[in-house]
Amino acid sequence: MPDSSSVSSSTAATNGTGTPGSPLVRFDQVTKTYTRGQTPVHALDDVNLEIPEGQFVGVVGPSGSGKSTLLYMLAAMDQPTAGSISVGDWKLNTLTGDAQARYRRTMIGMIFQQFHLVPTMTAQENVALPMILAGVAPETRNDRAAECLEMVGLGDRLDHRPAELSGGEQQRVATARALVGDPPLLLADEPTGNLDSETGAQIVDLLASVHREQNRTVLVVTHHFDEIEHVTERVVRLRDGRIDPGSPE
Ligand SMILES: Nc1ncnc2c1ncn2[C@@H]1O[C@H](COP(=O)(O)OP(=O)(O)OP(=O)(O)O)[C@@H](O)[C@H]1O
Ligand SMILES: [Mg+2]
Repeated sequence: MPDSSSVSSSTAATNGTGTPGSPLVRFDQVTKTYTRGQTPVHALDDVNLEIPEGQFVGVVGPSGSGKSTLLYMLAAMDQPTAGSISVGDWKLNTLTGDAQARYRRTMIGMIFQQFHLVPTMTAQENVALPMILAGVAPETRNDRAAECLEMVGLGDRLDHRPAELSGGEQQRVATARALVGDPPLLLADEPTGNLDSETGAQIVDLLASVHREQNRTVLVVTHHFDEIEHVTERVVRLRDGRIDPGSPE
């Protein structure tokens, strides 16, 4: 197994991350209401949150408390019903079309419980995929994808397809893909949920080293806080779409 305690050095993007001293992430009275039939569901309910650049944040709370919704809002995959969200110089409420795509490509890396790799593509092709959408030339994107796979300890698995990789290795490929655009903000939704505890611990170590050595801001949603407690600098507790008063804003 590769040493997951460190990653080769790289620097998180500094463009668009705002003025020094101001928080990287800011939620101002954010509400997200879904309507199911006649019943409104307040997935987020008046959330105020500031996260400084470079923090490792654990997001916890019962099922249905709004954890994934919080991440999706940050990834500009959905718009709040009320309130505003900013990430660095980006005001997410006003983003549409090309700007939204550019925001996601340059500012956000996302990791999911289910890996979401393309089964017919090799590890290198999967990692290079976001750069195709960004119009990066083939040689450059292949080199960058290989570099990111080496960073996560998979330099010897470039040509493997997902079915030829272990679960932990697939999540490393997904992590490499999330890092390929050098984003300042890394969002992980239950990244260890499909892994055994030992493999999960290696992924947590990988995220911790990406945070520590590359100064990236990391938000990890988890039902197993004990798995990330040792690397978490801040805990945001959600309950019924609200931030629990126990966790500082
Ligand atoms: N697209 C949607 N349409 C309607 N309701 C939704 C939608 N997405 C989420 N919800 C509701 O919003 C609430 C928050 O959902 P969310 O997925 O953010 O919870 P979660 O904390 O991530 O839960 P889990 O730990 O089970 O993943 C839930 O009550 C959910 O049913
Ligand atoms: Mg969820």
